[in-house]
Amino acid sequence: MWKGDPNGFWVVFWADQIVAFIGVHGSWLEKNGRIGEIHELVVCPEYQGKGLATALLEKAFSYCVSLGRRKIGLWVGEKNQPAIRLYLKAGFVRTGQWGKWIRMKKEVI
Ligand SMILES: CC(C)(COP(=O)(O)OP(=O)(O)OC[C@H]1O[C@@H](n2cnc3c(N)ncnc32)[C@H](O)[C@@H]1OP(=O)(O)O)[C@@H](O)C(=O)NCCC(=O)NCCS
Repeated sequence: MWKGDPNGFWVVFWADQIVAFIGVHGSWLEKNGRIGEIHELVVCPEYQGKGLATALLEKAFSYCVSLGRRKIGLWVGEKNQPAIRLYLKAGFVRTGQWGKWIRMKKEVI
């Protein structure tokens, strides 16, 4: 991820500890052009439900828009209901499935 796009990382610190992070590739090549691709989003269990993932997604969206991207994509496990709910709330729609992985996309402009 770091090699792909070293600018697409945000971490949340609590004191000197990292408690959440997101990694997005701001220039991911798909057959229809470049999009933003969220590769990882993780919040430590004891810090979940406080809006950290929502805030990190907003950072990723702004970053992708600043690069001229119109779409953001991600893959999420079909059984990962908390994440699917979060992404639906953030405006993602389901666009496909590959095995146990659901493809979701969001228009950002
Ligand atoms: C999925 C995940 C990233 C969500 O992180 P989170 O920080 O808990 O998410 P948020 O707090 O932004 O939103 C989750 C819920 O908290 C609620 N919330 C938002 N702000 C809040 C606040 N200030 N206080 C309490 N709850 C809040 C949201 O409304 C949402 O509620 P909902 O479940 O009813 O929709 C987290 O569960 C996680 O790290 N899971 C393991 C890794 C993972 O699966 N990552 C995704 C891979 S695709």
